[in-house]
Order: sequence, then C-alpha cells, then structure tokens
Amino acid sequence: MTQHDPHSYADLQQGKIAHIDLRIQADFEAHILKIEADYRLVEPVSGSLFLDTAGIELLNAVVEGKELQWEFDQQDVLLGERLHLKELNGASSFSLVFNTSNAARALQWLPAVQTAGGEHPFLYSQCQAIHARSVFPCQDTPSVRFTFSAEVEVPRALTAVMAAEQVGVRESGDSRVFQFKMPQPVPSYLFALGAGDLVFRELGPRTGVYAEPQLIEAAAWEFAGNEEKIIEAEKLLGPYLWGRYDLLILPPSFPYGGMENPRLTFLTPTAILGTRGQTFLITHELAHAWTGNLVTNATWEDFWLNEGWTTYAETRISEVLEGKQATDLMAVYDEQRLFEVMERVGMESDLTRLKVPSEGLDPDEATTIIPYYKGSFFLKECEYVVGRERFDAFIQKYMRTYQFQSLTTEAFLDFLKQELPEVFERINVHTWIYEPGLTDERRRPQSALYDEVQAVLEAYKQGIRPTEEQVAGWHRYQILSFLQALPKQIPVEDCKYFEEILDLKSKNDAAHYSYFYATCINSGYEEILPHIKEYLGRNGRMLYVLPIFRAMLASDWAREHARPILEQVRERQHKITVRVVNKLLEKAGL
Ligand code: BES
Ligand code: ZN
Repeated sequence: MTQHDPHSYADLQQGKIAHIDLRIQADFEAHILKIEADYRLVEPVSGSLFLDTAGIELLNAVVEGKELQWEFDQQDVLLGERLHLKELNGASSFSLVFNTSNAARALQWLPAVQTAGGEHPFLYSQCQAIHARSVFPCQDTPSVRFTFSAEVEVPRALTAVMAAEQVGVRESGDSRVFQFKMPQPVPSYLFALGAGDLVFRELGPRTGVYAEPQLIEAAAWEFAGNEEKIIEAEKLLGPYLWGRYDLLILPPSFPYGGMENPRLTFLTPTAILGTRGQTFLITHELAHAWTGNLVTNATWEDFWLNEGWTTYAETRISEVLEGKQATDLMAVYDEQRLFEVMERVGMESDLTRLKVPSEGLDPDEATTIIPYYKGSFFLKECEYVVGRERFDAFIQKYMRTYQFQSLTTEAFLDFLKQELPEVFERINVHTWIYEPGLTDERRRPQSALYDEVQAVLEAYKQGIRPTEEQVAGWHRYQILSFLQALPKQIPVEDCKYFEEILDLKSKNDAAHYSYFYATCINSGYEEILPHIKEYLGRNGRMLYVLPIFRAMLASDWAREHARPILEQVRERQHKITVRVVNKLLEKAGL
C-alpha cells in the first residue's frame, strides 16, 4: 500500500530503494562527509526517481556506466531539495558521488573542548525525523526500508561506530576504515553514525557500551542491567531480532535522552546519574527495537504508533523490573505532564490528537510528549477491556505480523478490529485516535507514593513547608512530581529551601533542575541566572532545555535574557535545539 508522506518528496509508484553501499570519508577540518554510494532498487525503474536531499552537493551520477541526468527541481525550507534522477531506463541500480554540507542538520561536529576528554573531536548523527536527507540522498520516509553496508574512514586516533554490525577495520595511511553492514531492512531515520575517542566495554553476552575513556567506568556501572532488560522485553514483545544491543554515550549537546538507533542506542551523558535512576530511559529505547524499529510508523503523522506503543511497553517492562509501586507513581506523574502539555498547546489543538495532521509542520517543532502518554493510556484502556492475557497475545501477534514493515494508524486499527473486536464495542476508538483532548471515559492511574507528595503540596499551599525528614528518601519520581506540581510562583526563600531539603545539588539530576529553574524564573529569583546559563551550557536534552526557555519568555524579568543566553550557549547546543529555541524566541517577538 502506498501512502502519501507529507514530509518526503518520494513517489513510491516510481520504485523503491532496496540497498545502499556507502563509502564515507569524514573530513574533520571541513566538517563534511565525502561519500560514494551505490544504490540498488527493489525493481527496475523506467523514467524518473525522486529522492530527498538537504544541502547535498552532488558531484557525479552514473547509471550502467553512463552519466545519469539529474536536477534539483524543487525546494522547500522544511523538505529540502528534491533530487530528480532522470531516465533510469529500466536500470535497477545507480551510483552517486556527493558531499554533505558543513551545515547538514543531521551531523553534529564537535570540537575537542566539547568532549569529556578534551583532546579529540567528535562527530555524531541524529536523523529522526527528517534529517537523513542531509547525509545521503534517499527516500526519507519511514515507509521505505533498505539494507546497507558502509565503510567509514576517520583519522587514526578516532573510532567510528554505526547503528549496524561492525564487520572489520583496516588501516589506511593516517586513517582507519571501519566496515559495517546492516542486514535487516531499516527506514532512513534509523541510519546513524558516530566517531570520537571511544572505548568499548562489554556488559553481557548481547550488550555493551561505547563511551569516551573518561566515562566508560561510570557508564558500565550505570547500565549493568541491560542484559536483564532484553530478557524481560523479549517476554513481552517476542525475540530480539537485531543481534547486539549496545549503547553509545554522547557529549552533552545530544538533543534527546536517547535515540533508538538499531543495535546501538545513542544516549545523553546526563543519564549517568551514579544511581541507576534513569534506566527507564534504556527500557524505552530498548522497547523501540520492537515498537518503532521492527514495526514502524508509516509517516510522522502516525508517530504515536512508535512512541505510544513504546511508552506502553516501557511501563510493562518497568512493572517487572522496578516494581508496581514505582511504575504506578510514574503513570500518575506522566498523566500530570500530559495535562500540563495539553493545556500549554490548548486542549483543542491538533497536537493533542493521536493522529496529527502534519502537512507543513516541522516535526522537530511539533514533537511533544502527547503521543507518548496519550498513546500509552489508549493502549492501557485496550488492555483493560480484553484483559492482560489476551492483550499480551495480541502484542506478540502484532509484532510477528508486521515485523520489518511500516504501517499507518488506519492499518493498525484494522488489525486491532480484526483481532480484538470488543475494544471497538467498549471504548470509543475514534475519539481516542482522531479527536483532540483527552476523554474522561478511561481508568485513571493511582499511586500511594504520589498521594504522599500531593499531601505535602496541599499543606504547603496552606502555608506549612515540608521538613527535611518528610522528603528524605523520596523516590526520584516523587521529587519530580513535587517540583512539577509546585505553585507557579513561590517565595524566592522557598526556592532556596527546596533546593536544600530535596538535596538537588548533590543529586545533580538534569530533570530536577529543569523544573526547578522554571520555578525560579517564574518566582523572580534573579540571582539564579548564572546557574541557569551554566546548566544550559552543559545540558542539551530538549525535553529539559525548552521548558526553561519557555519560562523565560513568559516572565517579565527574564524575557530580555532569553536571546543573549541562547547566543552564549549556541556553540554548546545541537543545531536542531538552536533552531527550535530560535523559533520560540521569534514567535515571542525576540
Ligand atoms: N525517538 C525518540 C527521540 C526523538 C523523537 C527524536 C522525535 C527525534 C524526533 C526517543 O525514543 C525518545 O522518545 N526519547 C525521549 C525519552 C523518552 C524516555 C521520553 C527523550 O529524548 O527525551
Ligand atoms: Zn521514544
């Protein structure tokens, strides 16, 4: 079934890419990748083939030993340039030689000072949602899957990694050439590479971690439980079909908590807390190996199929590994965040629908946590209706039926109707999927640990500050729930008091500080500004960075600082983050 993807120029009637062989040379001086690529198509193509590109400098195009005619014939700020390959005349392969732009959105080239070691540069990619096209011409839609092999040449002192299987390495002059293959077909957004001063540590038979030498010890301790997670995830979702599951610890500018690149999750260094307190993030990225990487959303309008399913799976696996109490606490906290974000964007906003009509929308700007939690709550409702046993059987069948395929929301609903028809009798599926807001006709999560926090907050609102003993021993999510639900403005003295009794400094948890700083800004705590600047210079996770800028824009005193702070931290943030913050500031007239 072909499906129009509003974020791609690809026309799947013309044909589909099946395999790409890439020879990649990383130029750390010029910040470009020099690439030669051989493409193989599923079937011979006669006539034209449209590919997505962004900033690609095309040097040569060859089909069957002859020059291939081409033209960049459409362009758009969001979609990039359409590469029109002309007159393929029944060929089923062609070759391109090209350079990436030094401004390629998917590629972050970091100088040595932005790494933990401080001696070697670092390169990493981030292709989701529509940035693969800035690395290589492709049908940059999650509905097309291809296999690939690649050689990556980097300076001798660096190690290259990919979200693929490493099959060899050889020396070549001052360089090393790493060889990879990806035998399972993947969508373009899961193409990923990295290079830096990296070492590897094994965690278990299928699991390991790559990090700079300075971080490897701490990382290996923090994520020692990964092997157990795979075993638990397989019980819920079926066999793990990707071979290894490794992590790559990135420098602080990485704009996400994690990115589920196949075989090699890319991870923020802020997940290394020294407490194993952020390992739910790994559960999330690992679950994507099934819900997202194996069974993939067909377009970014169906994003909830990736994230809602993954969040649901995350809660199921956490229930086993972290216990029911902690998982229930997370569920109530997530519900509160869902309310908060829905209120911010507006209950009637398109962004509150599970299936989001997104023609013309920039996925980087339009991404919220709504598809994560609303999607997960919808699936929980389905589970309640049919009972856990039947739902679990359904999950396994869903994975088996659609493995290595992409599907739309509608195809998923057809499958759901066929397998679990009573879901459609008992809950209003149409409302859940297509209507804005959040229906009241659902089971609400409950948590005793959350209620405890709520009681402390109620007392505080009556003028009774909590004591240190009261909050001692609180779960990480209790602290987060507390910080999230504090009144918007509180006395500056209380900001200081809470930082003290919650022991935020020594915990040094980026998530805590994101809420805390937003409260400080709302409360007019002006002396905190240098700390905020410092925080934004060493934390790139957008989930934490954006709320701080939003708070600045909404505050009379901090508003004027937003633009200068962005300029000061610009070099330490990812270009996706800079672009998204910049748009926020522009919308606010700054
Ligand atoms: N796949 C996402 C990250 C992503 C989303 C990248 C949209 C580009 C566009 C990843 O799995 C994710 O959801 N990360 C979250 C963590 C999660 C536990 C909520 C993040 O980075 O904050
Ligand atoms: Zn995710």
